[in-house]
Amino acid sequence: MNCINVIKQRKSIRSFTNKVPDKALILECLDAASWAPNPTSQQPWQFIVLTGNSLNRISRTIKESFPAAPIQNAGPAAEKPEIIQKIENRKKENFSEMISFLKESGADMSLLAEGNFNFHGAPLAVLFATWPGKDQNNLKSVVSAMQTFMLAAAAKGLGTCWANAVSICQKAIKKELGLAEDMILVDGISVGYPDPEAAVNRVPRHRLPIDEVTLWFV
Ligand SMILES: Cc1cc2nc3c(=O)[nH]c(=O)nc-3n(C[C@H](O)[C@H](O)[C@H](O)COP(=O)(O)O)c2cc1C
Repeated sequence: MNCINVIKQRKSIRSFTNKVPDKALILECLDAASWAPNPTSQQPWQFIVLTGNSLNRISRTIKESFPAAPIQNAGPAAEKPEIIQKIENRKKENFSEMISFLKESGADMSLLAEGNFNFHGAPLAVLFATWPGKDQNNLKSVVSAMQTFMLAAAAKGLGTCWANAVSICQKAIKKELGLAEDMILVDGISVGYPDPEAAVNRVPRHRLPIDEVTLWFV
């Protein structure tokens, strides 16, 4: 598949078959990820693969440590710049479109909520970690490796989904895995073979017209 096709065909997969991807295949995708750009090839990352009992254990840890409600700032909501409001509105619109689509498709809605705790039932997950640096470059490098990993996985027929719960629950996860406290868990990625039947893997996807998000100075 050509590169642009892989980029556009990759989509978030939130329902997987039970088949566990081969170790060699995951290592191939991680090797591709390690070719992501990063400052002076410092490669400030650690990839942590979870399957089987370890994955179940960390899913339990996430469920038990996930905050009951989002952390809110005290005091009256500050007036937000228009662009921030627009971005937040897109979240609301896209989310409600997804919920309507899933309800119409008769999907089990409890699985969607549960999916944030259990890597959407994927048979494998990769946690992407780094360490504090004097600037944001370690973090940026890992995010670039995460995207490269997802594209490599898509090219190999694997489905992936970003898992934000990993950074949210990182303190508990690090304790459970015996990882150093100063390690930063940037986030996780669920990995497996897409369930071809699941409506949740066919939710509508949108991108803005490109000139709406581009400034071009000549
Ligand atoms: C920083 C970040 C955090 C995300 N967190 C989650 C998550 O916790 N759960 C989830 O199902 N999807 C998560 N996603 C995936 C987005 O919801 C998804 O990329 C978006 O809806 C666009 O859909 P697409 O990936 O199919 O193009 C996250 C993506 C990013 C970049």
